[in-house]
Amino acid sequence: MERIAVCPGSFDPVTKGHLDIITRASNLFDRVIVLVSKNMMKTNECFTPQERKDLILRVTESLPNVVVDVYDGLLANYVRSVGAIAIVKGLRAVSDFEYEFQMALANRELYSGAETVFLTTTAENMYLSSSVVKQIAAFGGDISHSIPPEILSVVEKRLMKEKLS
Ligand code: PNS
Repeated sequence: MERIAVCPGSFDPVTKGHLDIITRASNLFDRVIVLVSKNMMKTNECFTPQERKDLILRVTESLPNVVVDVYDGLLANYVRSVGAIAIVKGLRAVSDFEYEFQMALANRELYSGAETVFLTTTAENMYLSSSVVKQIAAFGGDISHSIPPEILSVVEKRLMKEKLS
C-alpha cells in the first residue's frame, strides 16, 4: 500500500524552510501531497491559492513523489479522502509548539486515521516564516536566503508591489 503524507500550510509564499520540510518528508513517504490550505487567522494574503500552488510546483520539480493541491475545507476531511497516513508539519521554536499541538489534537479528533508528524527545522531556518519574509521584502530588505532561487524574482516583484499598493 502506498504511504501518503499530506504537508499542509498557507505557503504565502513557499520558503526555503518549507522546501526543506517537503524534501525531507519526500524521503520518508511514498507520496507527499503539499496542500495549500486556508488559515483563517491569516488575513494579509499576497498570493492567490493557485499562485501559491504554481510557486510550489516550480520549486518541487525535482521531487518526483511530490504533488501539489489546493483545498479550502477541513484538513482532516482532505486527509481522509486521499487515504493519507500522516500530516507532516515543520516545527521551529517553542512558540510553534502550543499552536501545532492544538492543531494535531483537533485533527486527530476529526480523523484518527492519520498521525501528525513533526519534523524539526534546521538551524538556519529557525526564524524563517512567510510573514517575516513579507515584512522584510516590503521594506526593501534582502530575502534571497529565505526564498528558493527559482521563484525569487517573481516573489520579490510581488511583495514590493504589495508595499506600493
Ligand atoms: O502555514 P500555516 O498557516 O501554519 O498552516 C496552517 C493550516 C493552513 C495548515 C491550518 O490552518 C489548516 O489546517 N487549515 C485548514 C482548515 C482546518 O482544517 N483547520 C484546523 C481545524 S482545527
